[in-house]
Amino acid sequence: MESVILHGKIFKQFISSGKIQERISVLAEKIKSEMNGTEPVFIPVLNGAFFFASDIIRKSGITCEVSFVRVSSYSGTQSSGTIKNPVGINSDISGKKIIIVEDIVDTGETLLYLLNEISKHDPAEIKVASLLLKPSALKHEVKIDYLGFEVPNDFLVGYGLDYDGLGRNLEDIYTLEK
Ligand code: IMP
Ligand code: MG
Repeated sequence: MESVILHGKIFKQFISSGKIQERISVLAEKIKSEMNGTEPVFIPVLNGAFFFASDIIRKSGITCEVSFVRVSSYSGTQSSGTIKNPVGINSDISGKKIIIVEDIVDTGETLLYLLNEISKHDPAEIKVASLLLKPSALKHEVKIDYLGFEVPNDFLVGYGLDYDGLGRNLEDIYTLEK
């Protein structure tokens, strides 16, 4: 689809599902070569990272655990800047290698919060996989080990990203028409 309408706003195609899958295959190979044999714990961040996590974890093909967390810092098309929901991290991650899986890093607030929370459980190491990064929106210094694409500071939907609940199930990523 070239464009979609969500809550009356027009979004146009920005990254095709073919390009997304191609890039994820590259990241999955990197994870495989760095993590194989170590049985890491993938921690996907709900709801947005659900599709990315599903694809990258399967493509990596490694023996691993998967444990979801939920954080929400977004309402409408602007980051609200506050972490509303607490996370549910299991404490059995101590001594294990962690890979946080995010859909998008915007201000970096969510990721910083998660890094702090997860390190309290004494993991062996924490790596970060994010499909998207908005470098010009970053307010915190965060390191992303497995990054899909750098994107401009525009509002995106699709492939897990939503606009007030809609658009997560789109296979491509779309940008808000200005
Ligand atoms: P941060 O805490 O500002 O880095 O925001 C991270 C979270 O905000 C992501 O996990 C997304 O759920 C959401 N988010 C950031 N940018 C967008 C966007 O362009 N579209 C939809 N959701 C977004
Ligand atoms: Mg998210």
